[in-house]
Amino acid sequence: MAAQTAQQAPLLSNEEQTAVGILPASHWQQQSTVEDPNDDAASSIESFMSSTASLSSTIFEYRTIHGRTYHGEMGNAESWEPNDERHKDALDIAHHAYTVVMDGKLYMAPLDKKKVQKVVDIGTGTGLWAIDFADEFPNTEVIGTDITPIQPSWIPANVKFELDDCNREWTWPDNTFDFVHLRMMFGLIEDWEALFRQAYRTCKPGGYTESFIKCGTFFSDDGSVKDDSAMAQWHRVWNAAGKKMGRTFEVYDHDLQRKGMEAAGFVDIQVQEYYIPVGVWHQDKNLAEKGLWWKIMMESDLEGYLNYPFNAVMGWTPAETAVYAAHLRKELNNPKIHGYFKARSVWGRKPE
Ligand SMILES: C[S@@+](CC[C@H](N)C(=O)[O-])C[C@H]1O[C@@H](n2cnc3c(N)ncnc32)[C@H](O)[C@@H]1O
Repeated sequence: MAAQTAQQAPLLSNEEQTAVGILPASHWQQQSTVEDPNDDAASSIESFMSSTASLSSTIFEYRTIHGRTYHGEMGNAESWEPNDERHKDALDIAHHAYTVVMDGKLYMAPLDKKKVQKVVDIGTGTGLWAIDFADEFPNTEVIGTDITPIQPSWIPANVKFELDDCNREWTWPDNTFDFVHLRMMFGLIEDWEALFRQAYRTCKPGGYTESFIKCGTFFSDDGSVKDDSAMAQWHRVWNAAGKKMGRTFEVYDHDLQRKGMEAAGFVDIQVQEYYIPVGVWHQDKNLAEKGLWWKIMMESDLEGYLNYPFNAVMGWTPAETAVYAAHLRKELNNPKIHGYFKARSVWGRKPE
């Protein structure tokens, strides 16, 4: 089990945690999670959320931090992502959130619908990107890979799913794909340059590779994300866990997509930045919708997201993590906190 792999590594000492600005896990249990009655958050959130009530109740049906399941042994894979039913729902919601952030687009590369014959989606999750792409490109063969079989079986005829660890040598021959797609693979990749070398090798000349990733940091321009808030702690704990796992979450921070593509030999590399005001605080309707979906995604399985990095890797107790999650939820629902994420698509072409 992946959880055992992480537990074998020594935990960060209190001094090491302090050095990277991580508050002790017990800190969160000393703070109140009760809503401030003067906060106008509740009413605005309630009206926004009422339309998603049935969705939420399904999602929270088996809410528990214990007994979360993860992928089985598969190459060098160590995934922080649960693969149980609840987290599959979260991944489905995530697909919608990412698509909304990209204004409904599935990709940014200038693909020619008449020429694209074969596409791969690495780390496809529940496969919704691959399925949507296949619907948009009915004459294209679309392969989705993952280390865990959580993909549906009712799929378009031009989609197939394969189990494969992308940290190992890819098994496809050179020049196989017109498009190699990788989305949200942070905290999972041992060597980003090696990953893009494989993408380059398997990409056809003239084909494209594209990667979408979000930055872990909650930014705020007005200081409303306070330094000791749960939002400010978020990326510190995730990033420390990534270091311990040897699979960085700081892909955006270190510009690893562009650097990896450049080093592999891709040309015409393009970058699209995204702004995601998490929650429902933004006045702009389009941005508020992006923020709402991102909030719904996070809340759909917050403990599932945190269980592996916080508990298994960083050694928090499930009770500490649950209280931290409650603080984070409270902040996500407070429209006076103007936290936002950044995200980035990078795509490049393999020269002819
Ligand atoms: C954050 S999810 C992203 C899913 C999908 N790409 C999306 O954007 O909706 C990461 C996915 O990568 C898979 N994964 C983790 N390690 C992997 C590896 N070494 N090779 C292939 N897939 C991996 C996980 O099982 C999970 O489904």
